[in-house]
Amino acid sequence: MANRRITRPPGPEPHFLIGNFPLGRPDPLAVFTGWAREFGDIFYYRAGWIHVYFLNSPELIESVLVTNQQNFRKDRVIQNSRWFLGQGLLTSEGGEWLRQRRLSQPAFHRERLALYARIINACAEEMLDSWKDGENRDVHQEMMQLTLRVVAKVLFSVDVKNESKEVAAALNLLMKHSSGARMLLPPWVRYLPLPFLIRVRRAVRQLDEVVYRIIRERRESESDKGDLLSMLMSARDEDGSRMTDRQLRDEVMTFLLAGHETTALSLSWAWYLLSENPEAENKLHHELARVLDGKNPSFEDLPRLCYTEAVVKESMRLYPPAWSLARTAARDFEVGGYLVPAGANVVMSQWIMHRDPRFFPSPEQFDPGRWFEEPTQRLPRFAYFPFGGGPRYCVGASFAMMEATLLLAAIAQRFRLRMVPGHNVVPVPSITLRPKYGIKMSLHQIRV
Ligand code: HEM
Repeated sequence: MANRRITRPPGPEPHFLIGNFPLGRPDPLAVFTGWAREFGDIFYYRAGWIHVYFLNSPELIESVLVTNQQNFRKDRVIQNSRWFLGQGLLTSEGGEWLRQRRLSQPAFHRERLALYARIINACAEEMLDSWKDGENRDVHQEMMQLTLRVVAKVLFSVDVKNESKEVAAALNLLMKHSSGARMLLPPWVRYLPLPFLIRVRRAVRQLDEVVYRIIRERRESESDKGDLLSMLMSARDEDGSRMTDRQLRDEVMTFLLAGHETTALSLSWAWYLLSENPEAENKLHHELARVLDGKNPSFEDLPRLCYTEAVVKESMRLYPPAWSLARTAARDFEVGGYLVPAGANVVMSQWIMHRDPRFFPSPEQFDPGRWFEEPTQRLPRFAYFPFGGGPRYCVGASFAMMEATLLLAAIAQRFRLRMVPGHNVVPVPSITLRPKYGIKMSLHQIRV
């Protein structure tokens, strides 16, 4: 570190006492984007007592997520979320994380994905049968309930149809609690007897009830269903002990939440973008007619649903469900020629990188066709990273891509979705990138 610079990277002018609180501003995404364009590959700001180093180049991001990942642990937002996620795969660290990762990975092997495709189709069909021509629905809520049912069925072999509305509402509250500057509040704040926090704690209890029911019913049935829950239940520690109910609860909760919210968002944003871009929507319908010819999409059709998959990728470029990743430096660290002290936060944002004109020509334009063209096919690794990277890469990424592609195909084959006039679509950077007022659309059945 002989030539390390002890000066801080450039950054916005701070308030002398509180620094900068971009997450408390009316449009944090615009603030971050403005700073990235003004200050370049790395900028610095202080939010109260938290030092933030924001990285805006693929090489710097790779150096944190891959090359030097051992210098970092998950940031305080993820650490704070332990109070409702517990110590599952998303929040754990070190040896405990590695053990959990090895245990759950087989649930996403290719041969299991082929089985999941049939379940995905059945859930889509059931939802579509309840949709009526001409009615209005909040498509974000519909996608949340659908993907929740899918993930509960494929990983835990349970049907949560009756609870899916309740779970979606509980999750809405949790996400509201995790948005804006609230994300950085210390954990004890949640015990304050404020009406909003009382509702949030009730939401966690509701989620717990669903999760403990799933575990209890499986224990009672004593059957090995070959799913993730059975894999977790039969795993033994080095001393021969099995997972406790609390450990199982944390893992099930993590997979239920991480495994449906993000996929639902990728689809919700795709419906919004398709409705605003009729040319892309027509190309999608052409591909579906050519490849499927009216039959339900299957696992075997996936290699030929290239444009459908490109719609999913392009939607996640413009509206990445995980809009940023953050790490806390465990030790002093050098990045981009600057010293990041131990305890500082490093942030890397998909929202910023995916809209960077150095990598994506006409970045604001929704153009799924770009994924078949030269510049996009030769992207540096971390110019596009909707699923993160390095060892903490999303364990459900292949499953999520398959699920989103199949659901998009199944739904677009039967309905065109149009924005309800006057409805305002506003992305909010909570832990995930959510539409503040939902996505209200009218449903138009396609007659064949
Ligand atoms: C479009 C859908 C999805 C997106 C955009 C997404 C995004 C991500 C990202 C960015 C990470 C890395 C977080 C970090 O490094 O801090 C991650 C991790 C994770 N994701 Fe996903 N995800 C999606 C779907 C899924 C699904 C379907 C599942 C499970 C069924 C899942 C389960 C997880 C888990 C358990 C982790 C933690 C992995 C680890 O730390 O080893 N995700 N996801």
